[in-house]
Amino acid sequence: MTRILFYLDEPGYEIWKEAFIDAIPGVDVRNYPHWGEPEDGPAYAFVWNPKPGIIADQPNITHVFSFGAGVDHILRDPTIPEELPVIRMSDDGLKDGMAEFVLMSVLMHHRGMHKLMAAQLQKQWIDTFYPTEAADVRVGMLGYGALARAAISRLLPIGYKINAWSRTPKATENNVTHYAGREDLADFLNATDILVCLLPATSETNNLLDADTLSLLPKGAAIINAGRGNLIDIDALVVQLDSDHLSGATLDVFPTEPLPQGSLLWHHPKITITPHIAAITRPKNATRYVAHCIAQIERGKQPDNLLDRSSGY
Ligand code: NAP
Ligand code: GLV
Repeated sequence: MTRILFYLDEPGYEIWKEAFIDAIPGVDVRNYPHWGEPEDGPAYAFVWNPKPGIIADQPNITHVFSFGAGVDHILRDPTIPEELPVIRMSDDGLKDGMAEFVLMSVLMHHRGMHKLMAAQLQKQWIDTFYPTEAADVRVGMLGYGALARAAISRLLPIGYKINAWSRTPKATENNVTHYAGREDLADFLNATDILVCLLPATSETNNLLDADTLSLLPKGAAIINAGRGNLIDIDALVVQLDSDHLSGATLDVFPTEPLPQGSLLWHHPKITITPHIAAITRPKNATRYVAHCIAQIERGKQPDNLLDRSSGY
């Protein structure tokens, strides 16, 4: 029998339990702290932000499924055995959600919606202004993984010029010009009007966008961060916004979440805040994805999207 040990740091268990029962007939789903004893037999864990120590305490866990595409919420627990396979979420629901969020946010920056919304609050009728044609807007994807590719598939039909940057080299394909590694970062940033950050949190991506790298963006560029809060040095970002080097930022992820009440970011006129909702893992699609991976494992195959511990994603 398939056994799922479930941990979510917020309400919602009942909905997930029903979804698992639909996706995996006969499944035994157990909500933390009622995970049972290791002697109960092999189990898969399905977790978001698990309490440190709880996975290591359960040596019958054979694989850990991450609720999200990111695994930083799991890897922060140093007690998890190195050899325990961790599988990242990459279902179609997550990809669609991120693609919609990126499309919405890019269009808002391109069409000056933040300025128009501020003008409405002042009952101000802005005289005609000419938005740049989409073909002249260079959207730079920082990260060229599953979510970035899903977003690109929605951005290309609008006509944007798309560039992408990632760790390993790739061929230029589908009208996306590719840049790789630190040696290409300056050229990539120089050629970006709207930067979309979709990188994982790893030791290499920590504060990747700091005072030096942010200043490589052209004057007037905008930033959308839907990756992780560690990617941007927030103080440096605010300096660049206040000096008018950058025109605006949409931030969905933060170094501390929830964003503290006292944060000055809440009131910054050039910052739009969303509460880590760019792509939400939805029960129906996600449990089907888990069922698919479990079927792969039970056929003796390597599941899709296994975490590579050496790269951290
Ligand atoms: P993915 O398929 O693994 O793609 C990750 C991309 O980042 C790859 O292109 C990878 O390069 C690149 N990368 C990693 N480290 C790098 C480095 N040091 N330098 C340059 N590029 C680097 O992951 P994904 O499924 O697209 O998810 C991306 C991230 O989105 C997640 O890790 C998570 O943090 C975030 N996320 C946020 C939300 C939200 O609601 N805000 C929702 C879901 C996910 P290579 O192609 O060379 O490997
Ligand atoms: C959400 O942040 C995820 O990693 O899927």
